[in-house]
Amino acid sequence: MAHSAANPAGDLISQILQALDKSEPLVSADAFPAAPFVEIKAALDRLKSRDMVRYDTIERQEALLEPEGEEIAANGSHEARVFEAVQKAMEGLSVKELEETIGDKNVVKIGQGKAFKEKWISKTKDGKFKAIAESIKDVTRGQLETIKTTRTHPNAKTLADLKKRKLIRMQKVISFRIHKGDKFALEIPDEATDLTADMIASGSWKTATFKPYNFKALGAAQMAGALHPLNKVRAELRSIFFEMGFEEMPTNKFVESGFWNFDALFVPQQHPARDLQDTFYIADPPLADKPRAESPDDKKDYEAYWNHTKAVHQDGEFGSIGYRYPWSGDESLRLVLRTHTTAVSASMLHKLAAVEGPDGRPPPARYFSIDRVFRNESVDATHLAEFHQVEGVIADYNLSMGELMEFMDIFFGKMGITGLMYKPAYNPYTEPSMEIFSYHAGLGKIVEIGNSGMFRPEVLETMGLPKDMRVFGFGLSLERPTMIKYGISNIRELLGHKVDLNFVQNSPAVQFGGKA
Ligand code: PHE
Repeated sequence: MAHSAANPAGDLISQILQALDKSEPLVSADAFPAAPFVEIKAALDRLKSRDMVRYDTIERQEALLEPEGEEIAANGSHEARVFEAVQKAMEGLSVKELEETIGDKNVVKIGQGKAFKEKWISKTKDGKFKAIAESIKDVTRGQLETIKTTRTHPNAKTLADLKKRKLIRMQKVISFRIHKGDKFALEIPDEATDLTADMIASGSWKTATFKPYNFKALGAAQMAGALHPLNKVRAELRSIFFEMGFEEMPTNKFVESGFWNFDALFVPQQHPARDLQDTFYIADPPLADKPRAESPDDKKDYEAYWNHTKAVHQDGEFGSIGYRYPWSGDESLRLVLRTHTTAVSASMLHKLAAVEGPDGRPPPARYFSIDRVFRNESVDATHLAEFHQVEGVIADYNLSMGELMEFMDIFFGKMGITGLMYKPAYNPYTEPSMEIFSYHAGLGKIVEIGNSGMFRPEVLETMGLPKDMRVFGFGLSLERPTMIKYGISNIRELLGHKVDLNFVQNSPAVQFGGKA
């Protein structure tokens, strides 16, 4: 088919219009047997949207020649070929001669049998084939020729027979029965997509054809902002905390003094976590201010707190024998990138100690935060030098471990994590301390999901909290559940300069509670 290179679709469209002008209805499979189905459909849809044609879909069975059928249509049936060869040789032909003439042993084998049966040929005494019929009619060839041009045959029995003989096969063909539409024309008129000032000025709008609106067209994808998967999981966790009565802590400070990050939490100054392996220290400025009130309504005595902290480390206080080492104020004032958000929990609990509840004592409190922390770790597929810590702290009178374990069940249950297991652990600021584990069905193994513990009296009483107020805390990383939820195995795909923006753009919202 001659397609204009510039616009093959337009070419097909005009062929359809021309053909339809000559005969209506038009059946696409007859009029354009070689045009691919999708191109015909696209062309018809374009015309239909302009009311230039109407069409309906028809399904029919077409007969196609198998290779052997093709050969018979071209050269005649086996028996006819045998007859013709024998007839031409006046003297008759031996089997060998016949095979040589026809050049195909198979044709001779099948053809002579059938030619005998039809009484077209016979055998002489000396074993040669002779023609006995005057002329013959090659019915099979005629049938196949009809099928080759019309793709069907008027006689259903003939079709069935030929199919059985494996000379043809049937094939389902979808085509279109096309009628002229209300706006039929031989060409698609030029269509205006917009009404312009020029058209109004010149008056051309009066005769212009406007392109109809396509209300089914999808809009172009918009490059809108998208929340990072970490933010999606964070939003989900925040709502869990809020619905459980937690208050969000102000964690907008990445740099803390060693005092809040370590000393207030009874981390001894020789503790390995404080050395340069794990902690990023800030060189400039060299030292922080001593802890002090940061708002006018904070009436706590920070000097007393500083002195008690020193005492509890160095000599022991509040019934503790302390660590018994010379505590250094300067070490405490070194600035660090916070290694955990527990530094903020410490300052919140210290403030809580000054709050007078209805009974004059500090009221029970629940605090949480989800924010960034920094650790000087070697970077690998699951570790970066920074991550987001999810932290929760519950202060209440005479809290027991049982209540806390129940709380953990409920909290993690809301994230779809059940069957918690605990393992004794060590934190300088909590006793007992417990790592939390759960079986992860998706990963097929037990995974660590967090760290927790009851804050030590050395931490709480130094802040001025009453002896019977217990504080339970726990921490987990935001990255871990996010990686599991989104099936990410390398943390660098989640955070940092290698993150694929399409991943951020296309990640679905997270849903807790379902199957991970
Ligand atoms: N700070 C701990 C950590 O970084 C988490 C934690 C918070 C543990 C509060 C106990 C109490 O893993």
